[in-house]
Formats: sequence, structure tokens, C-alpha cells
Amino acid sequence: MAQFADPGTLLSTTHEVDDGLRVRLRLARPSDAMRMQEFFDELSDETRHRRFFVAMPQTSETLIRHFTFFDPRERLVVVAVAMIGHSEEIVGVAGVALLETAIAELGVVVDDAKQGVGIGRLLTEAIASLALRQGATHLRAELLEGNERMVALMQRLGRTVLTAEGETSVAVARLAATRRRAA
Ligand SMILES: CC(C)(COP(=O)(O)OP(=O)(O)OC[C@H]1O[C@@H](n2cnc3c(N)ncnc32)[C@H](O)[C@@H]1OP(=O)(O)O)[C@@H](O)C(=O)NCCC(=O)NCCS
Repeated sequence: MAQFADPGTLLSTTHEVDDGLRVRLRLARPSDAMRMQEFFDELSDETRHRRFFVAMPQTSETLIRHFTFFDPRERLVVVAVAMIGHSEEIVGVAGVALLETAIAELGVVVDDAKQGVGIGRLLTEAIASLALRQGATHLRAELLEGNERMVALMQRLGRTVLTAEGETSVAVARLAATRRRAA
């Protein structure tokens, strides 16, 4: 059974990922609008498609607002940030909608150049930990067929059931009932 660190610990620690980059996780905030815009503007078409399932030629204001303003009782957005040069940049974004059914809906995306080094793993663990604390028992994610990285991330969170729904699949991971507490 998977166990997650306390969300407070995950969100207050600097994590070193596989290529040596130091990444911090925190909740997104309204002052992230510009950083968020840059992050989404730089994503490749394939990455956008894998995240949103539609061609998304431009980053709309609505999208930026969606990821920077949220009611924490209903939705949370966690960003992974890193110091690149002298400025803080967003390198990954994960959101979770807390549904009334105890199944929370997860979406996650990582900067193309930084995929495969563990940022998605950090973000999804933080989301799972926050969702558990809010009473969710399962995390659900929609993904395109063949998205093995996302399947691997869901399986890390807990026992996962995959169901094909046309071009997309739905993965539902059962979250552990217990969490590791920070010492
Ligand atoms: C899916 C995504 C969020 C994963 O984030 P990431 O930072 O690249 O992933 P990580 O480096 O944390 O690794 C993910 C896991 O996939 C595994 N993996 C990597 N490449 C793989 C491959 N080709 N096949 C199978 N597993 C693979 C890794 O080993 C890792 O598993 P582990 O932690 O058990 O070792 C990222 O690739 C992305 O932004 N994709 C586009 C958007 C998307 O697909 N979102 C999901 C739908 S909401």
C-alpha cells in the first residue's frame, strides 16, 4: 500500500530531481499569472494534447485564471518551481478537483525539457497527499492511450484500474488509507 508524506512536508521541502535540478512545490497563487502564462506558452503541441486532449494553439486568459485562482474547498493547484538563472520558473503544474464522491480528479503537466526526471512523481504525490487529507479515497485521471508515464505515476499512487473510453482511458488509483507523518 502506498504511503504519502504529509502535504506540509512535501510543500515545504526542496526536492532534488534526477538531473540535479532543485524543485520546490507550492500552491499556485494569483501572482503566478505571468509565470503560468510562460509555462503554458512553452509547452509543445504534443504535451498540450496529452494534457487537454484538444489542439490548443494559444494560452487563454481563462486557462491562466483557472490555474491561479481556486477555491481550496473545491480545487487545488500545485506548482513545481525551480530557480532558472535568477528567476523562479514554473516547471510543472498539477490540479485536483475534489468531487463529492470521494473520487478526486487529477490533471498534471510537466515542462517538455524537464519530463522524465521525477517532477511528475513529486507533483502527483503532493496532490494525492492533499486529496487524502480532504477525504478523497481515489484519484481519477483521464489520459490518452499509450501514455505510459502517466499510467506509471498512477500505479505509484495506489492500485490502479484502467478503463478505455474511446481514444482516452480513465485511470483510477486507490489511495492508501494511512499516511506517513512528518517527524
Ligand atoms: C505525464 C507527465 C506529467 C509525467 O511527468 P514526468 O515528470 O515526465 O514523470 P516522472 O519523471 O516523474 O516519471 C514518471 C514515471 O514514468 C516512468 N516512465 C518514464 N518513461 C516511461 C515510458 N516510456 N514508459 C513507461 N514508463 C515510463 C518513470 O520511470 C516514472 O516511474 P517511476 O517513478 O515509478 O520510476 C509528463 O510526462 C507530462 O507532462 N506529459 C504530458 C501531459 C500528460 O500526459 N498529462 C497526463 C494527463 S492529465
